[in-house]
Amino acid sequence: MGLGNKSVLVAGGAGFIGSHIVDRLAVEGLESLVVVDNLFLGSVDNLMEARSQFPELVFYEEDASDPGTMRDIMERHGVDVVFDLAVIPLPASHTRPRWVFEQNVGVTLTLCELAVGGAYDTLIHFSSSEVYGTCEYEPMDEEHPLKGMTPYAASKIASDQLVFSYDRTFGLDASIVRPFNNFGPRQNDGSYAGVIPLTIKRILNNEPPVIYGSGMQTRDYLYVTDTADSAVDIYNSRKTRGKALNIASGKEISIASVIGLISEYMGCEKPIVREPERPGDVRRHIANIFLAKDLIGFKPSVSFEEGLRRTVDWYVQRAKK
Ligand SMILES: NC(=O)c1ccc[n+]([C@@H]2O[C@H](COP(=O)([O-])OP(=O)(O)OC[C@H]3O[C@@H](n4cnc5c(N)ncnc54)[C@H](O)[C@@H]3O)[C@@H](O)[C@H]2O)c1
Repeated sequence: MGLGNKSVLVAGGAGFIGSHIVDRLAVEGLESLVVVDNLFLGSVDNLMEARSQFPELVFYEEDASDPGTMRDIMERHGVDVVFDLAVIPLPASHTRPRWVFEQNVGVTLTLCELAVGGAYDTLIHFSSSEVYGTCEYEPMDEEHPLKGMTPYAASKIASDQLVFSYDRTFGLDASIVRPFNNFGPRQNDGSYAGVIPLTIKRILNNEPPVIYGSGMQTRDYLYVTDTADSAVDIYNSRKTRGKALNIASGKEISIASVIGLISEYMGCEKPIVREPERPGDVRRHIANIFLAKDLIGFKPSVSFEEGLRRTVDWYVQRAKK
């Protein structure tokens, strides 16, 4: 395998993880590199770095769930491979559950249909550790029961099952990347922000950090470029086809520790504000990454502390601009 001379489309490529995959793809010697994003959360600024490496990058502000639009784009660029990261994020599913479910499943369904209809060859679909819910045993491997705590998680479970079912029924050539929590530059820090960008932003704004619930809830954090590299490795390994692979650090860290480390690195002395636990908040998350080690030789290359420094520095630089 190998992506050299292929034409690759990234759905949701102007978002956080998607734009880091686009960066990685920009140096793979591709025939063409196409990004489709409806800019619900993504930003064309996130593509600047990739464009400097691959000026022929083409961007479409379109809905990736629209079959006609996607077929046209695929035909125009002779697309071979699709990385699917288009998603409406979890917090939106608290206020618009039906819409979030329909949007997220709609994109996956369209991409499955187009692949089996011959519009392109290989789908690398992004799942989420949210499919597991609160861990029933740890570390969580890919056999862990699926128990969506939110309509967002239900949309991710349904999407994964669609990919598997199209593989079994129609021989879809697909692999599933199942990340745990990612962090790094360009993570959305707006209304749907995750704890790391939210805390950095609060401290930059001279506000105190906030912990929801006890702070003892844990997450397994991976620096985003390690996830981007793993997605390319998953494409390159045929052994991953028809499988979902956990992609994570394999280490657990509490939210209180994460916030403590950010405060310390940023020199914040304001006491942490406590807020009530949020509905559907998963208590423990830690991945078993044995399958990814076995199939693609996966090994995180950026430590949590180093990743945190790079992330804070990026947000500080951006704030100065
Ligand atoms: N960020 C994490 O920690 C994390 C963890 C586990 C899994 N994931 C998964 O990784 C993938 C990417 O997540 P992210 O954090 O980069 O999210 P993100 O919100 O930063 O990026 C998603 C992108 O999809 C775009 N989008 C949404 N609906 C679309 C549609 N219908 N058509 C075209 N574009 C659309 C958005 O504008 C955005 O740019 C998702 O599948 C998500 O479930 C992320």
